[in-house]
This record gives sequence, structure tokens and C-alpha cells, in this order.
Amino acid sequence: MGLKGDSSSNSIVAKLGNKVKELTIKYSFIGDAKPWNLFIFVRMKRKVLAISGSTRKESANLQIIKAIAAMARDNWDMKVFSDLALLPHFNPDMDKEGSVPEMVEEFRSKIHQSDGVLICTPEYVFSLPGSLKNAIEWTVSTTVFSDKPVAVITASSSGIKAHESLLLIMETIVAKLSSKSQLLISGVRAKLSKDGQITDEETLIKIKELVADFEEMMHSANG
Ligand SMILES: Cc1cc2nc3c(=O)[nH]c(=O)nc-3n(C[C@H](O)[C@H](O)[C@H](O)COP(=O)(O)O)c2cc1C
Repeated sequence: MGLKGDSSSNSIVAKLGNKVKELTIKYSFIGDAKPWNLFIFVRMKRKVLAISGSTRKESANLQIIKAIAAMARDNWDMKVFSDLALLPHFNPDMDKEGSVPEMVEEFRSKIHQSDGVLICTPEYVFSLPGSLKNAIEWTVSTTVFSDKPVAVITASSSGIKAHESLLLIMETIVAKLSSKSQLLISGVRAKLSKDGQITDEETLIKIKELVADFEEMMHSANG
């Protein structure tokens, strides 16, 4: 176990090996700085897996994911799944014990090990991008999404059809969603600055509500 102090933020980060998640230990002194007045609050960082339905380098959806990661950095350890475009095409013949590609096993395992999954996607020709749909197809024969807290954002020019479709898919694979953990952002280009900041006030408020609701769902599911 290693301990790393950070005097500026009154926090100690403890790495407890790969069996236990990273802990953020916040401490404070009440009154005189005496050891018996030391209060320690232990909080586990949530493990969030983020998936962008767009594999574009300058993707607005990836920018939104990064903005959310920055917003929630004190509470969440967010990892972006970067291999979406590398997953093989779904084929039921390969979806059998002993035949499942290693990359697919890793993808499933990342979902399984996360406290929650954030999906942020554009709409392509009135539907989900093929690479995102393909990735989800690889999970259908498993229970990795069952009761998994999920937040979904469709950020697109319009996005209405893709959003409807994504919600139906999430319901079908029994993921846990709430009314505030889903958000359609139409006209996304006009709502972000060039460097990926969310400049539209209403969108920012809704994203903050989504983050709070998603946190609450993960708290209910994982304690
Ligand atoms: C092949 C293609 C098809 C598209 N079809 C739609 C569509 O049906 N509805 C829509 O709202 N936007 C559509 N768009 C526009 C995307 O929503 C827009 O480019 C979005 O910003 C892409 O997300 P990204 O910036 O995260 O890559 C399409 C874009 C492409 C490249």
C-alpha cells in the first residue's frame, strides 16, 4: 500500500493494489490540529466506462465525454473505451464459448468491472453508428448490462431517431436508466466551443443533472 499526500487539497490518495479501487481519503482538523481531532472521510471513486459512438478524432461526443470526466474528476475514475472501431463484426457463430475474440472478452470485462457506463453518440442516417451498434450486439448474449447503471447522451445534428433506438436497446438489454440519465442534444455543434467546452447554458445544466443522477444510480447499485 502506498500513500501520497497532497497538502494543497487536504487529501491523501491510497493505492491498495489492483484488488481495491483507488481511494480518496479527505481529512480535516476540527479546532486545534491535534491527532484526536482528525476526521477521515473515505470515499471510493466510481469506475465509469465511457463509450463514444463516434470514432472521429475531433468528435463532439468525445469532447462531451471529456467535459463530463473533468466535471466529475473528484468522484469518478473515467476510462474511455478506445477500441470501438477495432472490434470484429458481430457474428453469432463466434459468440460461443472458446470462439469469442479476445478483444470482445476484454470489452465485456470492462463493462462488467465498471460501476456504470456512459454512452455518448451521434446519429448516422437516422440510426446508431454501426460501430456502436456492433459493440452492443456483442453484449446481448451476456448479462454485462443487466442492472448496470447507464447514462446515454445522443449529441448530433438532430439525433431523435438514434436516441429512441438507443433507449429501446438499453431497455432490451435490461440496463438501468433513469429519466435524467438520458439526454438528447440536438444541434450539438453550436453548443460547444472549438476547444470542446459546453457553451450552451441549458445543455450544461442538463449535463450536470445527468451527472448527479448517474452518480445517485451508481450509489444505489454499488453503495
Ligand atoms: C455518414 C453521416 C450520416 C449522418 N447522419 C445524420 C443523421 O441521420 N442525423 C443527424 O442528426 N446527424 C447526422 N449526421 C451528422 C452528425 O450528427 C454530426 O456530424 C455529428 O457532429 C457527428 O458527431 P461527432 O462530432 O461526435 O463525430 C451524419 C453524419 C455523417 C458523417
